[in-house]
Amino acid sequence: MIDVDDAKLDELVRAARAIRGHAYAPYSGFLVGAAVLNEDGRIRSGVNIENASYPLSVCAERNAVGAMVLAAQHRVLAVGVATDAEHPTPPCGGCRQVLWEFGDADTPVVAEGAAGARSRWRLGELLPDAFGPDDLA
Ligand code: THU
Repeated sequence: MIDVDDAKLDELVRAARAIRGHAYAPYSGFLVGAAVLNEDGRIRSGVNIENASYPLSVCAERNAVGAMVLAAQHRVLAVGVATDAEHPTPPCGGCRQVLWEFGDADTPVVAEGAAGARSRWRLGELLPDAFGPDDLA
């Protein structure tokens, strides 16, 4: 069992910060790094990848989930996000739904903005009354 303590969450945010510079965001200029902690104790990261056909852009959180699945992991234990926004920014609505698929209401989400300010939520706060796999049972 992985211990999701403050040190682990800090590591997660630092991983998101470290990868953020790889973001491909020439249209918005808003670079995002994301990292998810998996059941094997490892961290998988992603960045936002934009496209000249704007709606095809994919958020950092969803690309981190893609990296996780490529590693045959299907459980998100915690999420870290890093931007240079003045205030820490939570995952967008679509990413909340994608994270819900692999996390649960208690999954911690920590975001860091410019100057290191951080905010922390539980996924259940960000996506109350979520529709998920159980609803298809
Ligand atoms: N973006 C993310 O990568 N994650 C979020 O949760 C919010 C938005 C990206 C999408 C787009 O490339 C840019 O940030 C501006 O919206």
